[in-house]
This record gives sequence, structure tokens and C-alpha cells, in this order.
Amino acid sequence: MKNFEGRVAIVTGAAQGIGRAIADRLAAEGATLAVVDINDEAAQAAAVEIGGDAFSVACDIGDPASVTALHETIVQRAGKLDVLVNAAAIVPFVPWDELTFEEWRRVMRVNLDGIYLMCRAGSDLMRKNGYGRIVNIASNSIFAGTPNMAHYVASKGGILAFTRALATELGPHQITANSVCPGLTDTEGVQQTPHKEAFEFVEMLQAIKGRGKPQDIAPAVAFLASEDAHWITGQALAVDAGMIRW
Ligand SMILES: NC(=O)c1ccc[n+]([C@@H]2O[C@H](COP(=O)([O-])OP(=O)(O)OC[C@H]3O[C@@H](n4cnc5c(N)ncnc54)[C@H](O)[C@@H]3O)[C@@H](O)[C@H]2O)c1
Repeated sequence: MKNFEGRVAIVTGAAQGIGRAIADRLAAEGATLAVVDINDEAAQAAAVEIGGDAFSVACDIGDPASVTALHETIVQRAGKLDVLVNAAAIVPFVPWDELTFEEWRRVMRVNLDGIYLMCRAGSDLMRKNGYGRIVNIASNSIFAGTPNMAHYVASKGGILAFTRALATELGPHQITANSVCPGLTDTEGVQQTPHKEAFEFVEMLQAIKGRGKPQDIAPAVAFLASEDAHWITGQALAVDAGMIRW
């Protein structure tokens, strides 16, 4: 029996990058998968490529109405929600001297407000069946204090702390909440920013050498999203070839 047979999963940011690799992995293990992304066209293409009963839903996770509509669609199409993986985020490159309040809010709206909105609606749906797995994608930049992304680092630190508190709130309902903290990973998003120049430096800090790929992150997420991980909640797992140890 596959790990996610009979399970309904949402992966946000699943049109590309780490979210896409997680979606591929959960679908390969039998999940009915909702490929959720603000990029409708790319999400549709990803759902077709994933195949099976995967379907796409366009959603802006920072918009309450869009998140409500998404969860209504999940109920109509799949009847329930078992697994929620929040991978959608804005990954900016903005030096501190250029960081305006507008830019701060743009990132917080998606990276932190979006996580709240998705966890609020997702956990409400999970509670109806008394089962759930939530995995929020944070970042190892919260330990490293990575330059040129102070607002992003703050948003990801918020995700880690929020997920710890969420675990306390949802434990009585048999819903776990954990966060995964990837290191620098070669994705479409990273390739569009100057972060793409940082791989050599980051590799020097890793215990295991090599360039992180989305497929290196997905197995850890799949484990935390599985039934087997029922005794693990409120944790943060760095998946970064040993760059950060805490
Ligand atoms: N790539 C890395 O080096 C790295 C490292 C640590 C953490 N992360 C985290 O992993 C996750 C995925 O990163 P990635 O590099 O694959 O990103 P990416 O930029 O390649 O993909 C992000 C996806 O999220 C979608 N998205 C953006 N805003 C959205 C919104 N408002 N609503 C719905 N979807 C939205 C985008 O359309 C895109 O498909 C993010 O949470 C990121 O912060 C990435």
C-alpha cells in the first residue's frame, strides 16, 4: 500500500520548484493532489504532467477570498483534506538600504499572512475528519541571517514560531504541524535572482557537498506528511546537507 492512498493533499506553490517536487512525491505515493498556485497556467500544466487524479486550483494564498474559494473547491472535488503543504512564497533579493515598508508588506502578505490563511481554512477542514498533517516550508536562512532578504527571513522565522504554536492548538484534533527548513535549493525562483550566485559559498558550509535540488527536500516533507509521523509535531527540520545544526 502506498503512503498516501486515499489521502487528499494540497501543495501550494506547486507549479514549480520545491512545491512541484513535493507534489510529484505525494502524488507518486498515491495522494489525490491539488496543485495550488497563483500562476494558473503553470499549475494547470503541472497537474496534467503529474497525471492521475491531480487537479489544479488557482489561488492567491495572501487573499482571504481566494483561500476560501480554494477550500470550497477542495470539498466539492475531493470531499475532505488530509495533508496541507505550504510551499508558496515570495523569495526576494532586496538589500537592507532599499527595503521599504511596501516591500516588507508585499512579502509578509504572502509568506506569513498566506500561511495563516491556509492553516486556518485547512485545519478547519481537517478537523471534520479528526486527522491532518500540516507541513510549512520555512528556510534555513532564519538561522543563518542570510543577507538581502531581511523581510523574508523575518517571515520565515514567523512561520517556524507559528507552526510550533499551531501544533499545540491542533494536537487535540490529531492534526500535526511541522516546518521544514530547506537550504539554498536550485529552483526556477532562485535562478531568477542573484541568490543563484551563492551556491559555491553555501556548499562550503554544507557537511554533504553538492547543489541542493527540489527532489532533495521532498522526501523529508513526505515523511512529516505521512501517517508514520503521527508522534512528531511542532518540530522544525533543517534539510540542507548539514549546513545548519541546532
Ligand atoms: N529555493 C531555495 O533556495 C529555498 C530555500 C529555503 C526555503 N525555500 C522555500 O521553499 C519554498 C519554495 O521555494 P522555491 O525556490 O521552489 O520557489 P519558486 O519561486 O521557484 O516557486 C514558488 C511558487 O510559489 C508561487 N506563489 C508565489 N506567490 C504566491 C501566492 N501569493 N499564492 C500562491 N502561489 C504563489 C509561485 O507562482 C511559484 O510557483 C518557498 O517557501 C521558499 O521560501 C526555498
